[in-house]
Amino acid sequence: MAAHGEGSLLAISDLHVGHPANRAVVEGLRPESPDDWLLVAGDVGDTVADIEWALTVLRRRFGTVVWVPGNHDLWTPPADPVRLRGVDRYRHLVELCRRLGVLTPEDPYPVWRGPGGPVRVAPLFLLYDHSWRPEGLDTPEAALAEAYRTGIVCTDEFLLHPDPYPTRSAWCAQRVAATERRLAEWDDLPTVLVNHWPLVREPTRILRYPIFAQWCGTEATADWHRRFHAAAVVYGHLHIPRTTWHDGVRFEEVSVGYPREWRPRPAPPTWRRILPAG
Ligand SMILES: [Fe+2]
Ligand SMILES: [Fe+2]
Repeated sequence: MAAHGEGSLLAISDLHVGHPANRAVVEGLRPESPDDWLLVAGDVGDTVADIEWALTVLRRRFGTVVWVPGNHDLWTPPADPVRLRGVDRYRHLVELCRRLGVLTPEDPYPVWRGPGGPVRVAPLFLLYDHSWRPEGLDTPEAALAEAYRTGIVCTDEFLLHPDPYPTRSAWCAQRVAATERRLAEWDDLPTVLVNHWPLVREPTRILRYPIFAQWCGTEATADWHRRFHAAAVVYGHLHIPRTTWHDGVRFEEVSVGYPREWRPRPAPPTWRRILPAG
């Protein structure tokens, strides 16, 4: 057992295992202790087979694995023989996780009782709703039109189908309302909130293309880190791994990203420790 006896709460995201170099990253991931938990904050892969491969590998290594979907996990790409769309695809992935013994947003929120705990770990699936818009664009429609005009359009528009909801924003509204009710049932412990998209807008301010923020989250969660007593918030999606603080709460962007993004960095990609802090 390494430095952290009784284990650590670890997190990683944006494994994108369709890239062979990223598969090697996943194959190289190891816990430090048999008591470690791994939080996987979405964008595991683009096909069901890729997601199954990665979660199978990780589940063999880590005693507890918790997964939340990213946008790529919910795509229905032409090359995937699994043709399910939207809610049906999400449910299919949840069933896959249940077969593998991986926890999802549809399971009771588990309590981490190791170092830095106890905390209630809440895996969330919330999507986005085009509310993070540039100044002067007052509606989701205006923001989307501006994105098309400038050519910065998220691939979700073509591959992430919201069926049976009319739009991804409508699906987001349903997920936010249901999740808010669930979180409000618990106030006994601090939380670790895990979501693919950041819960607050600030981390998106450094995006190269600010117009892209409309696919990165929702204004509806702006105070959740305070309301639900977060000890830490874990997210990915931006492919900008770093720690930021908002209202005194630590936010950890835990992405691996694409090989062209991580290769120039000094150290190979791995998980980030969430608890114990510091
Ligand atoms: Fe990603
Ligand atoms: Fe993403």
